[in-house]
Amino acid sequence: MDLFEYQAKKLFAEHGVPVPTGKTATTPEEARAIATELGGKVVVKAQVKAGGRGKAGGVKVADGPDDAFAKATAILGMDIKGHTVHSVLVEEASNIAEEYYASFLLDRANRTFLAMASREGGMEIEEVAATNPDALARIAIDPLTGVDAAKAREIAVAAKLPEAALAGAAELLVKLWTVFVKSDATLVEVNPLILTADGRVIALDGKVSLDENADFRHPENAAFVDVSAVDPLEQKAKEKGLNYVKLEGEVGIIGNGAGLVMSTLDVVTYAGEEFGGKRPANFLDIGGGASAEVMANGLSIILGDPSVKSVFVNIFGGITSCDAVANGIVQALKIVGDVTTPLVVRLDGNNAEEGRRILKEANLSVVKPVDTMDGAAKLAAELAAAAA
Ligand SMILES: Nc1ncnc2c1ncn2[C@@H]1O[C@H](COP(=O)(O)OP(=O)(O)OP(=O)(O)O)[C@@H](O)[C@H]1O
Ligand SMILES: [Mg+2]
Repeated sequence: MDLFEYQAKKLFAEHGVPVPTGKTATTPEEARAIATELGGKVVVKAQVKAGGRGKAGGVKVADGPDDAFAKATAILGMDIKGHTVHSVLVEEASNIAEEYYASFLLDRANRTFLAMASREGGMEIEEVAATNPDALARIAIDPLTGVDAAKAREIAVAAKLPEAALAGAAELLVKLWTVFVKSDATLVEVNPLILTADGRVIALDGKVSLDENADFRHPENAAFVDVSAVDPLEQKAKEKGLNYVKLEGEVGIIGNGAGLVMSTLDVVTYAGEEFGGKRPANFLDIGGGASAEVMANGLSIILGDPSVKSVFVNIFGGITSCDAVANGIVQALKIVGDVTTPLVVRLDGNNAEEGRRILKEANLSVVKPVDTMDGAAKLAAELAAAAA
């Protein structure tokens, strides 16, 4: 999970990394109030999870409260690389002497952690990395020893930071490493890391990616979730413990096993070409078991998507037997009720014959059993096209 700048800075502050004082606003009025509270010059910064905000016009200095109101008016609602700006960070303007770059990240290729730092930070860092890679120091970090004062100094020296910034940068890097470890991050990046005119070293920007595999250790991370960006169906599926991903098409997909569902998406996409480009509407893996309850939850989520015109239930019975799944489908349709969207069902593998018999006997008009995966994909695409 990637954090917004204001969230990254909150984490930084909790671990003693110096950051400018500031608050977020979702309206120009709020921005004005925060600027009044802070006093003096402020910087109004678009909060979007995309790089290059400054260059896109999403970071602006304001002279005072009224100017902060004007700058926030301009920035809120702006589109930056496909991300709409819903909030701005209003923070005290720093008096910048120099801009550097520093980050810690997971170095997958070398199976270790890596520190990267440069004297030439700021908005052109990508350019520096591409054209003058020597200006970007790369220092491997041993996960067992981490970053102590000596290591931090080694990083700052390798980055060729000036004498005036060394002590402050080293102190900040030790704390930044604590952020990285304590929050189970895969990236913490500060660009720019600045030296102020009065000699302090501060994190002026913050980018953090958290490792979601470690969420169980961090109940506090729930507060970082950007609810405005979460698809409501995906949210509902998550609550039900289902592996659901919303896609753009018209054919709802239910399968057991991620591999089978992936290949079902391919087969449906291929079959759909013949019918005006009908495509899968989702990924949904109901896993083993496929009880009536799981099937009903899956169906109700898929049918909750108005673009779904047909559903393809693709089951390969392994440990799960097809008769259990067939009973699950029959009961699930009763639980969900009033289903008019056609359900193409392909059952194969363990006890498929019995499963097919159960479906046939139930004699449900919406259920269309097909024996092969290709045949079922074709029918599902055809039905979606017919319904459109
Ligand atoms: N609080 C501040 N005070 C003074 N100048 C600032 C402040 N925050 C940002 N700036 C200036 O604006 C520039 C861009 O800000 P920032 O690094 O936060 O955004 P960005 O780099 O454009 O965005 P991203 O990192 O997402 O690409 C900084 O390099 C710095 O010169
Ligand atoms: Mg930046």
